[in-house]
Amino acid sequence: MSGIAVLAIDGPSASGKGSVAQGVAEALGFAYLDSGALYRLSALAAKQAGVAWRDELGVARIAASLDVRFEAGLILLSGQDVSAQIRSEEIGVGASQIAAFAAVRQALLARQRAFALAPGLVADGRDMGSVVFPQAELKIFLTASAKVRAERRYTQLLGRGELADLAAITQDLESRDARDAARAEAPLRQWPDALLLETSNLSLDQVVEQVLSWWKTRPKEE
Ligand code: DC
Repeated sequence: MSGIAVLAIDGPSASGKGSVAQGVAEALGFAYLDSGALYRLSALAAKQAGVAWRDELGVARIAASLDVRFEAGLILLSGQDVSAQIRSEEIGVGASQIAAFAAVRQALLARQRAFALAPGLVADGRDMGSVVFPQAELKIFLTASAKVRAERRYTQLLGRGELADLAAITQDLESRDARDAARAEAPLRQWPDALLLETSNLSLDQVVEQVLSWWKTRPKEE
């Protein structure tokens, strides 16, 4: 793991981390890790296996043995394309519940670290800079107001042709943020060594530019 350049982007749901991290990874020629997808996949796999989301050890066993492939923009679970399915609100809520369990987080740790391969990795999540890649060369806490994040998610759902209710989305985001921030294990938080990037009034391109500029000017260890 050491010696590989890692750029960690953490932040709340619908802050745009995924799009930003992918844009930055592409510009740098680095790999990309969507760590939230692993929590979503664990929630989905547990549901498919009939394991309750409150069953910490049962879900941890499922998380440890996930058969996942990230291929050409698709996410395959046991060979089946679940890219759209894991983005549903129901699976998002399940992911947030199982993510509070220490055994589940531990089961996913090595799998996440295995993404750090040369020439480098851009990883997004909640604990990329704090737990998974504490040695990351640049750590960013990316956020936007709950109102802006809810509007972004709303537009995204409408764009996919799904029904969406702005008030319900806002409420769901706020309760998910509260759960992610209140948990004892790897809570969602801006740690002192992460740079804050408030994106409410910025376009995706502007955010990617800012991250790339911080990356170019980051202090380098000798
Ligand atoms: O980023 P996302 O919405 O796809 O994440 C889904 C859930 O997984 C979210 O509620 C918090 C959790 N998660 C986490 O606890 N740690 C991570 N590194 C990534 C996601």
